[in-house]
Formats: sequence, C-alpha cells, structure tokens
Amino acid sequence: MAFRYYSAERIRDKMPTYKGTDEELQDAIDDISLLYGSALKELDTKLDIISDDFDKKHSYMPIHHVQKRLKSFDSLIDKAERYGIEDPINNLDTVLAEVLDIGGIRVICNYEEDIYTMSGLLLEQSDIELIRIKDYCKNPKESGYRSLHVVVAIPVYLVNRKAMVPLEIQFRSIAMDTWASLEHELRYKNKGVLNEEIQDQLAECARQLAQIDEKMSHIRHQVLKSDNEYADY
Ligand code: GTP
Ligand code: MG
Repeated sequence: MAFRYYSAERIRDKMPTYKGTDEELQDAIDDISLLYGSALKELDTKLDIISDDFDKKHSYMPIHHVQKRLKSFDSLIDKAERYGIEDPINNLDTVLAEVLDIGGIRVICNYEEDIYTMSGLLLEQSDIELIRIKDYCKNPKESGYRSLHVVVAIPVYLVNRKAMVPLEIQFRSIAMDTWASLEHELRYKNKGVLNEEIQDQLAECARQLAQIDEKMSHIRHQVLKSDNEYADY
C-alpha cells in the first residue's frame, strides 16, 4: 500500500521549498508509506483474528467489513498547514507527531453494540496504546455524523527498530456508515458546501437511522433469545 502521490519529482513541483534532494524526499515518503502501511496491516490482522475467534466462540461475526486508507502526501502536508505547523515539508517529524490519521481504518460492524464489543476487545490488547477516543455515537456531531473514533499507537517491527505508529480507527454500524458515505459523497460533489436546508434534511436522516439502529438491535435480541444456537451471545 503506497501513497497515491508518491513521486518526489511531482511533490517538488508543488512544494518547491523542500530543502533536501529528490532522493531524500523520496526516501522520506517511502518510509512513511512503509511504516503506516505496515501498521494498517498489523491492525487489520488483529481485527481479523478477534473476529474469527468471536465467530468460533459465539457463532457470530461482529465485523461486516473493513476499509483501510493511507492519507496522500499532498493531503498530509495540507492538513499540517491547517494545524498551523510551519513549513511542514521541511519539518516532517513534527508533521508525523501531530497528524494522527495518516493511516486510517474503518471498521463497519453490524450493530451499534458491536462497535463497543470490538473496540473494547482491541483496546484490551497489551501492545496497543490508546491515544484518544471521541464517541460521536453517544454525542453525534451537529451534521448528524455518528461513529466511534479511536486513535491508537501500534508497534511495527522493522529490521533494526520498533516503531509505535499512530492510526485512526473509525468504528461504525452499517447504518452509520451508510449515512456518512452518502453525506460525504454529496458534500464532495458540491465542493464541500451544503446549504442549511440540505444540512437539516441530512441531520434528520441521521436521527432516523439512529432510531433504526436501535430498533434493529432490539429485534436482534428478540431473535437471539428465541434461538438456542446464538443464546450465549
Ligand atoms: P481533523 O482530523 O483534524 O479534522 O480533526 P478531528 O480528528 O478532531 O476530526 P474528527 O474527529 O471530526 O474526525 C474527522 C474524520 O471523521 C473525517 O475525516 C471524516 O472521515 C469523519 N467525519 C467527521 N465529521 C463528519 C461528517 O459530518 N460527515 C462525514 N461524512 N464524515 C465525518
Ligand atoms: Mg482526525
């Protein structure tokens, strides 16, 4: 998994102030790509293992699917500028210390309660460090956005060192993901702006989907009670 815009030559065209050589820039980009790409692989495997064991123990898979992405180098530098980091291209160490979502993983679970089951099981692992949690399920954003954001650091073992690499995990139910994906696509299509009336309608959809999440979970528990096969979960 590599950055979409990995060529130092191309980056230099956009960011001519870089002080090192093209080789140095390429090396830095490749390092970031290797480190964060590897961290994503590790985390993906951890989630896979938990999910498989959960299935074995409870005949149920809480994870519907997982999506991973590495932030492109361009958007990393853009974000660093938004964060107020001065001359980010020449201060990549500061950028890496401040921007915690270079590697992002989205864990789409079936039900809202699965989000807490999965995040809880992951955070219990002794080699994972919790950096921060933002619970937009319990406290949705004004837009209506719901999701559990967990930033962790995960160890990556390289040839001659171990690095703790930060990753942002967004845990969502299928319904939360449906809303966020469609809202994002609408916003994106409209160059990032949606008028107030549209925003209100979207917020209303988010509320309705939250109710549906609750109802589906309720139905699920009724089914579980009447089905011995799943009775232990
Ligand atoms: P930045 O990462 O610097 O923006 O700050 P932050 O980490 O405090 O931001 P936040 O916790 O809001 O998480 C940002 C990510 O959450 C975005 O990249 C989106 O993936 C997602 N997100 C947050 N708000 C919304 C929203 O209203 N709609 C959608 N579709 N996604 C959102
Ligand atoms: Mg973020």
